[in-house]
Amino acid sequence: MNSHFHIAIDGPVAAGKGTISRIISERLNFLYIDTGAMYRVAAWLAMENNTEFSDEDALVALLEKSEIRMHNPVELERDGRLTSVIVNDQDVSWMIRTEEVGIGASIVGQIAAVRKILVKKQQEIAQTQNVVMEGRDITYKVLPDANLKIFLTGKDFVRANRRHLQLQSRGVDVTFNQVYVDLVTRDKIDMERTTDPLKIVDEAWVIDTSDLSIEQVVNLVVFKVNIMRETLQTN
Ligand code: DC
Repeated sequence: MNSHFHIAIDGPVAAGKGTISRIISERLNFLYIDTGAMYRVAAWLAMENNTEFSDEDALVALLEKSEIRMHNPVELERDGRLTSVIVNDQDVSWMIRTEEVGIGASIVGQIAAVRKILVKKQQEIAQTQNVVMEGRDITYKVLPDANLKIFLTGKDFVRANRRHLQLQSRGVDVTFNQVYVDLVTRDKIDMERTTDPLKIVDEAWVIDTSDLSIEQVVNLVVFKVNIMRETLQTN
Protein backbone atom coordinates (compact mmCIF):
# COMPACT_ATOMS: atom_id res chain seq x y z
CA MET A 1 0.00 0.00 0.00
CA ASN A 2 1.33 3.41 -0.97
CA SER A 3 2.04 5.64 2.04
CA HIS A 4 1.50 8.84 0.06
CA PHE A 5 -1.81 10.65 -0.23
CA HIS A 6 -3.17 10.63 -3.76
CA ILE A 7 -6.03 12.75 -5.06
CA ALA A 8 -7.27 11.58 -8.47
CA ILE A 9 -9.47 13.91 -10.51
CA ASP A 10 -11.17 13.07 -13.80
CA GLY A 11 -13.63 15.05 -15.86
CA PRO A 12 -14.53 16.48 -19.26
CA VAL A 13 -13.00 19.48 -21.05
CA ALA A 14 -12.95 22.78 -19.13
CA ALA A 15 -14.63 21.48 -15.98
CA GLY A 16 -12.07 23.45 -13.98
CA LYS A 17 -9.77 20.51 -13.27
CA GLY A 18 -6.54 22.41 -13.91
CA THR A 19 -7.28 25.58 -11.97
CA ILE A 20 -8.84 23.73 -9.05
CA SER A 21 -6.13 21.05 -8.85
CA ARG A 22 -3.43 23.68 -8.95
CA ILE A 23 -4.87 25.65 -6.00
CA ILE A 24 -5.58 22.48 -4.01
CA SER A 25 -1.97 21.39 -4.55
CA GLU A 26 -0.71 24.73 -3.22
CA ARG A 27 -3.01 24.68 -0.19
CA LEU A 28 -1.97 21.12 0.71
CA ASN A 29 1.63 21.35 -0.48
CA PHE A 30 1.12 18.43 -2.89
CA LEU A 31 2.57 18.13 -6.39
CA TYR A 32 0.13 18.99 -9.19
CA ILE A 33 0.24 16.78 -12.27
CA ASP A 34 -1.66 17.75 -15.39
CA THR A 35 -1.75 14.53 -17.43
CA GLY A 36 -3.58 16.25 -20.30
CA ALA A 37 -0.37 18.23 -20.85
CA MET A 38 1.43 14.97 -21.65
CA TYR A 39 -1.14 13.99 -24.31
CA ARG A 40 -0.87 17.55 -25.64
CA VAL A 41 2.91 17.09 -25.88
CA ALA A 42 2.39 13.89 -27.89
CA ALA A 43 0.15 15.78 -30.35
CA TRP A 44 2.52 18.76 -30.47
CA LEU A 45 5.50 16.48 -31.18
CA ALA A 46 3.57 14.90 -34.06
CA MET A 47 2.71 18.32 -35.52
CA GLU A 48 6.28 19.59 -35.19
CA ASN A 49 7.65 16.50 -36.93
CA ASN A 50 5.00 16.30 -39.66
CA THR A 51 3.83 12.98 -38.30
CA GLU A 52 0.23 11.85 -38.83
CA PHE A 53 -1.76 11.42 -35.58
CA SER A 54 -2.64 7.93 -36.82
CA ASP A 55 1.00 6.86 -37.31
CA GLU A 56 1.31 4.84 -34.11
CA ASP A 57 4.91 3.64 -34.57
CA ALA A 58 6.23 7.10 -35.38
CA LEU A 59 4.37 8.60 -32.40
CA VAL A 60 5.76 6.00 -30.02
CA ALA A 61 9.29 6.56 -31.38
CA LEU A 62 8.91 10.33 -30.94
CA LEU A 63 7.70 9.94 -27.35
CA GLU A 64 10.42 7.47 -26.49
CA LYS A 65 13.21 9.70 -27.67
CA SER A 66 11.81 12.87 -26.10
CA GLU A 67 12.44 14.02 -22.59
CA ILE A 68 9.29 15.50 -21.05
CA ARG A 69 9.63 17.37 -17.78
CA MET A 70 6.90 19.10 -15.80
CA HIS A 71 7.22 21.28 -12.72
CA ASN A 72 5.35 23.91 -10.74
CA PRO A 73 6.12 27.30 -12.36
CA VAL A 74 9.16 28.99 -10.79
CA GLU A 75 9.29 32.75 -10.17
CA LEU A 76 10.36 33.72 -13.73
CA GLU A 77 7.72 31.48 -15.29
CA ARG A 78 4.71 32.94 -13.45
CA ASP A 79 2.83 34.21 -16.49
CA GLY A 80 -0.56 32.66 -15.77
CA ARG A 81 0.41 29.10 -16.66
CA LEU A 82 -0.72 26.33 -14.30
CA THR A 83 2.25 24.10 -14.95
CA SER A 84 5.56 24.34 -16.81
CA VAL A 85 6.13 21.77 -19.53
CA ILE A 86 9.62 21.30 -20.97
CA VAL A 87 10.24 19.03 -23.96
CA ASN A 88 13.88 18.37 -24.85
CA ASP A 89 14.86 21.58 -23.02
CA GLN A 90 12.28 23.70 -24.91
CA ASP A 91 9.57 25.44 -22.88
CA VAL A 92 6.34 24.42 -24.65
CA SER A 93 3.96 25.37 -21.81
CA TRP A 94 1.96 27.80 -23.99
CA MET A 95 2.49 26.14 -27.38
CA ILE A 96 0.51 23.11 -26.22
CA ARG A 97 -2.48 25.20 -25.12
CA THR A 98 -4.05 25.82 -28.54
CA GLU A 99 -7.43 24.36 -29.56
CA GLU A 100 -5.67 22.50 -32.39
CA VAL A 101 -3.28 20.76 -30.01
CA GLY A 102 -6.21 20.00 -27.67
CA ILE A 103 -8.12 18.16 -30.39
CA GLY A 104 -4.86 16.44 -31.45
CA ALA A 105 -4.31 15.29 -27.86
CA SER A 106 -7.75 13.73 -27.83
CA ILE A 107 -6.97 11.90 -31.10
CA VAL A 108 -3.55 10.55 -30.07
CA GLY A 109 -5.06 9.62 -26.70
CA GLN A 110 -7.06 6.95 -28.53
CA ILE A 111 -3.86 5.02 -29.25
CA ALA A 112 -3.23 2.30 -26.64
CA ALA A 113 0.56 2.34 -27.15
CA VAL A 114 0.71 6.09 -26.48
CA ARG A 115 -1.40 5.68 -23.32
CA LYS A 116 0.85 2.89 -22.08
CA ILE A 117 3.96 5.09 -22.21
CA LEU A 118 2.28 8.09 -20.59
CA VAL A 119 0.45 6.15 -17.86
CA LYS A 120 3.75 4.57 -16.81
CA LYS A 121 5.39 8.01 -16.51
CA GLN A 122 2.43 9.29 -14.46
CA GLN A 123 2.54 6.32 -12.07
CA GLU A 124 6.28 6.73 -11.57
CA ILE A 125 5.86 10.39 -10.59
CA ALA A 126 3.10 9.60 -8.07
CA GLN A 127 4.94 6.71 -6.46
CA THR A 128 7.21 8.92 -4.39
CA GLN A 129 5.00 11.81 -3.31
CA ASN A 130 1.62 13.27 -2.39
CA VAL A 131 -0.10 14.33 -5.60
CA VAL A 132 -3.17 15.93 -7.09
CA MET A 133 -3.35 14.34 -10.51
CA GLU A 134 -6.00 15.22 -13.08
CA GLY A 135 -7.03 13.80 -16.44
CA ARG A 136 -9.50 11.32 -17.90
CA ASP A 137 -8.42 7.90 -16.57
CA ILE A 138 -6.75 8.77 -13.28
CA THR A 139 -9.42 7.44 -10.91
CA TYR A 140 -9.35 3.90 -12.28
CA LYS A 141 -6.27 3.39 -14.45
CA VAL A 142 -3.38 5.57 -13.32
CA LEU A 143 -4.15 5.72 -9.58
CA PRO A 144 -6.76 3.01 -8.88
CA ASP A 145 -5.84 3.08 -5.16
CA ALA A 146 -6.08 6.86 -4.79
CA ASN A 147 -7.26 8.00 -1.35
CA LEU A 148 -9.77 10.40 -2.88
CA LYS A 149 -11.42 10.13 -6.30
CA ILE A 150 -13.27 13.06 -7.78
CA PHE A 151 -15.23 13.49 -11.02
CA LEU A 152 -15.38 17.19 -11.79
CA THR A 153 -18.00 18.21 -14.30
CA GLY A 154 -20.27 21.06 -15.44
CA LYS A 155 -22.91 21.94 -18.01
CA ASP A 156 -21.62 22.00 -21.63
CA PHE A 157 -22.61 25.61 -22.12
CA VAL A 158 -20.94 26.80 -18.91
CA ARG A 159 -17.74 24.90 -19.69
CA ALA A 160 -17.59 26.22 -23.26
CA ASN A 161 -18.17 29.74 -22.02
CA ARG A 162 -15.31 29.42 -19.52
CA ARG A 163 -12.94 28.07 -22.16
CA HIS A 164 -13.97 30.83 -24.58
CA LEU A 165 -13.27 33.56 -22.00
CA GLN A 166 -9.94 31.91 -21.15
CA LEU A 167 -8.87 31.89 -24.82
CA GLN A 168 -10.07 35.46 -25.38
CA SER A 169 -8.10 36.68 -22.37
CA ARG A 170 -5.00 35.24 -24.04
CA GLY A 171 -5.82 37.15 -27.22
CA VAL A 172 -6.86 34.04 -29.21
CA ASP A 173 -9.37 34.96 -31.92
CA VAL A 174 -11.99 32.21 -31.76
CA THR A 175 -15.80 32.25 -31.73
CA PHE A 176 -17.93 30.78 -28.95
CA ASN A 177 -19.45 28.39 -31.51
CA GLN A 178 -16.06 27.01 -32.49
CA VAL A 179 -15.09 26.48 -28.85
CA TYR A 180 -18.43 24.79 -28.15
CA VAL A 181 -18.08 22.44 -31.13
CA ASP A 182 -14.46 21.58 -30.20
CA LEU A 183 -15.49 20.85 -26.60
CA VAL A 184 -18.37 18.56 -27.53
CA THR A 185 -16.23 16.78 -30.15
CA ARG A 186 -13.38 16.23 -27.72
CA ASP A 187 -15.65 14.96 -24.92
CA LYS A 188 -17.23 12.50 -27.35
CA ILE A 189 -13.84 11.11 -28.47
CA ASP A 190 -12.65 10.90 -24.84
CA MET A 191 -15.78 9.05 -23.65
CA GLU A 192 -16.09 6.70 -26.61
CA ARG A 193 -12.51 5.54 -27.17
CA THR A 194 -11.92 1.84 -26.58
CA THR A 195 -8.82 2.18 -24.38
CA ASP A 196 -9.47 3.75 -20.98
CA PRO A 197 -12.27 6.16 -21.82
CA LEU A 198 -13.44 8.99 -19.57
CA LYS A 199 -16.01 7.53 -17.14
CA ILE A 200 -17.37 7.98 -13.64
CA VAL A 201 -16.28 5.25 -11.24
CA ASP A 202 -18.72 4.13 -8.51
CA GLU A 203 -16.62 5.47 -5.67
CA ALA A 204 -16.05 8.91 -7.23
CA TRP A 205 -17.28 12.06 -5.57
CA VAL A 206 -19.08 13.87 -8.41
CA ILE A 207 -18.86 17.66 -8.21
CA ASP A 208 -20.79 19.77 -10.71
CA THR A 209 -18.95 23.10 -10.89
CA SER A 210 -21.56 24.91 -13.05
CA ASP A 211 -22.91 26.98 -10.16
CA LEU A 212 -19.90 26.95 -7.84
CA SER A 213 -16.96 29.32 -7.65
CA ILE A 214 -13.39 28.00 -7.83
CA GLU A 215 -12.94 28.93 -4.17
CA GLN A 216 -16.04 26.96 -3.14
CA VAL A 217 -14.86 23.80 -4.90
CA VAL A 218 -11.32 24.14 -3.53
CA ASN A 219 -12.66 24.61 0.02
CA LEU A 220 -14.91 21.56 -0.26
CA VAL A 221 -12.05 19.34 -1.39
CA VAL A 222 -9.41 20.66 1.02
CA PHE A 223 -11.84 20.30 3.94
CA LYS A 224 -12.52 16.68 3.02
CA VAL A 225 -8.83 15.84 2.51
CA ASN A 226 -7.89 17.33 5.89
CA ILE A 227 -10.51 15.20 7.65
CA MET A 228 -9.34 12.10 5.78
CA ARG A 229 -5.71 12.71 6.69
CA GLU A 230 -6.56 13.30 10.36
CA THR A 231 -8.50 10.04 10.40
CA LEU A 232 -5.60 8.22 8.76
CA GLN A 233 -3.21 9.56 11.43
CA THR A 234 -5.39 8.58 14.40
CA ASN A 235 -5.97 5.06 13.11
O1 DC B 1 -7.00 17.96 -19.88
P1 DC B 1 -6.80 18.47 -21.33
O2 DC B 1 -8.04 19.08 -21.89
O3 DC B 1 -5.61 19.33 -21.46
O4 DC B 1 -6.50 17.12 -22.17
C1 DC B 1 -6.29 17.13 -23.56
C2 DC B 1 -6.71 15.80 -24.17
O5 DC B 1 -5.80 14.79 -23.75
C3 DC B 1 -8.09 15.28 -23.76
O6 DC B 1 -9.12 15.76 -24.60
C4 DC B 1 -7.93 13.79 -23.88
C5 DC B 1 -6.47 13.55 -23.61
N1 DC B 1 -6.25 13.02 -22.26
C6 DC B 1 -6.39 11.66 -22.07
O7 DC B 1 -6.73 10.96 -23.02
N2 DC B 1 -6.13 11.11 -20.85
C7 DC B 1 -5.76 11.87 -19.81
N3 DC B 1 -5.49 11.31 -18.63
C8 DC B 1 -5.65 13.27 -19.98
C9 DC B 1 -5.92 13.82 -21.22
